[in-house]
Amino acid sequence: MGANELLAEIEKVGRTHTGGYTRLAWDDATMTLREWFAGQVAALGLELVEDGNGNQIAWWGHGPDALLVGSHLDSVPEGGPLDGPLGVSSALAAVAQLKASGWVPSRPLGLVNFTDEEGGRFGVACLGSRLATGAITPEKALALRDDEGTSLGEVMAAQGRDPRAAGPSEWLSSVSQYVELHVEQGRWLAPHETAVGVASAIWPHGRYRFEFCGEGNHAGATAMADRHDPMLAYAATVLAARELATSSGQRATLGRVLVEPGSTNSIPSRVVAWLDARAEAEPALESLVTGIIARAQWAAQTDGTQVNVRAESTTGAVEFDHDLRHRLAALLDAPTLPTGAGHDAGILAAKLPTAMLFVRNPTGISHAPQESSTPEDIDTGVDALAAVIKDLG
Ligand code: GLV
Ligand code: MN
Ligand code: MN
Repeated sequence: MGANELLAEIEKVGRTHTGGYTRLAWDDATMTLREWFAGQVAALGLELVEDGNGNQIAWWGHGPDALLVGSHLDSVPEGGPLDGPLGVSSALAAVAQLKASGWVPSRPLGLVNFTDEEGGRFGVACLGSRLATGAITPEKALALRDDEGTSLGEVMAAQGRDPRAAGPSEWLSSVSQYVELHVEQGRWLAPHETAVGVASAIWPHGRYRFEFCGEGNHAGATAMADRHDPMLAYAATVLAARELATSSGQRATLGRVLVEPGSTNSIPSRVVAWLDARAEAEPALESLVTGIIARAQWAAQTDGTQVNVRAESTTGAVEFDHDLRHRLAALLDAPTLPTGAGHDAGILAAKLPTAMLFVRNPTGISHAPQESSTPEDIDTGVDALAAVIKDLG
């Protein structure tokens, strides 16, 4: 089956009334997608294993020096159809194509579905690959809680998994290269008139939780001068994030906020908001985040409120393996481009040679329902991935 047909098979899974996809780690939608992946790899005659972190790996051959390809099947809340599933579907389609042609790899080939790449439920991005590589301890990961207050350990146990098995993955020690195909998240390829690009680097990025605490009170009976409204420091932080990121050429977003008690006629007592910050280099990221925090503190102090900030998930700058990325760019005659988006490939890059292929996205929109690639470009991406597997495998 081709990648377009594979994506069509799962187009209703986790789809919401907005037309977007909400497929969060271990929810009903991702459980359905796990079964779907298992069915696909069985149909290809591959052997499926699931590690203690929930990562699914399908093997064509066994032993050391394996080549790994794949991506993830979870999404952000109300995300698009391709961020993740395009890489998994393309890997399945590329293997189907290679098998049909009679080609056999000379080294083991693994197809992976990494669990919880987006961190949309427990707040930490790339949880499956971080656990597998030891970039986060199982103790820390299993204690993370979702919005309902349920821990990852409890969620995994409820899905029949043993949380004690979470942690660095044995299977990863047999892998010596990883290639992840992904929908492009931006419009860099479109004007270059090429369907496929090769990643050069990932910007360093992080997620920071801001907790603004004030005094809940009556919206009508409390004079403006007597208020300690935490919403004001939050609002100042949003404006500071835009101003500081714009003036330094970096990126800062506050895309999620909780207000307590969340009542129209009450002054809030607490506002919790999450900053997503990204920059071209680590010092620039640090100075951006430090600047936003300073402005949040200054605003809180002015209003007689408090702010506490905690980094929830950070990823340093990633430079993809020089030899591997140049080899793929030459093989595919493809341009190389950096990205501001995070990926499991960025986590694995700290352990082994890793590369990424991007498939053109005509609007550049991602993490939203409008995310797309044309069917023709998707097929071209599969052909490129098949060529890469043949070249490396
Ligand atoms: C993942 O897609 C991220 O960049 O947040
Ligand atoms: Mn994403
Ligand atoms: Mn992704």
